[in-house]
Amino acid sequence: MKRYPTDGLIVVLTGAGISAESGLATFRGAGGLWEGHRVEDVATPEAFARNPALVQRFYNLRRAQLRDPAVRPNAAHRALARLEREWPGEVLVVTQNVDDLHERAGTRNLIHMHGELLRALCLACNDSMPWSEDLSPEAVCPSCGGKGGLRPDIVWFGEMPYRMDEIYDALTRCALFLSIGTSGQVYPAAGFVEVVRESGEAPTIEINLEPSATRSRFSEHRSGAAGELVPALVDELLAQAS
Ligand code: APR
Repeated sequence: MKRYPTDGLIVVLTGAGISAESGLATFRGAGGLWEGHRVEDVATPEAFARNPALVQRFYNLRRAQLRDPAVRPNAAHRALARLEREWPGEVLVVTQNVDDLHERAGTRNLIHMHGELLRALCLACNDSMPWSEDLSPEAVCPSCGGKGGLRPDIVWFGEMPYRMDEIYDALTRCALFLSIGTSGQVYPAAGFVEVVRESGEAPTIEINLEPSATRSRFSEHRSGAAGELVPALVDELLAQAS
């Protein structure tokens, strides 16, 4: 059996694959398109400037999915919440996902580096606020009353992901790095494994249905469904730490 660290900081990067078993579509892999749109056609500031109604509709549909009672955290989300509760050190989950399944599963130490579907951003005052209903081009900001419009608080292609300083600080001092359900095609997240490797000896484990684009940078790859493999890994880590 492999030996892993028994204390210290664990950084967990998650991507769309961890929510696939909850019924939310991934971006790439089988299908690779949502709703017949290319990601770049609906997930860029240029797309929003060109056709705000189309972009709002696209995100309204995704936000509505989160209200579907069938969409709920799966065993992988729950296992990471358990890891945070029971691991002797610190656990930080950095997710590229804009759904709220990690927090619903009980994860508290969480960074949504690509923003959140359930938040809106005012184009006039730049305030970010909780938002669970549909957004329309006519929406008025409850903070400033401005009619400049609201957009989903989502980091689009060409925009800077959130809280990068905190993330890099954690990557450079972590004892273990896990990457779960991400194809490794979108930077800066795809480069996190490299930052960990350059910073020390921390093992780096990838869990994905298929080897990611950055598979060769990891010290270990486990191939399969997150709902099965993440609980198994969490069991191993907690058993070794106890
Ligand atoms: N368990 C584990 N992995 C899975 C599962 C599963 N049940 N189902 C799918 N996967 C894997 C796929 O094999 C694929 O490699 O999850 C990966 C999902 O990759 P992407 O769809 O590219 O998602 P992600 O890496 O999160 O995308 C990054 O791209 O468009 C942007 O901003 C968007 O945050 C997103 C970013």
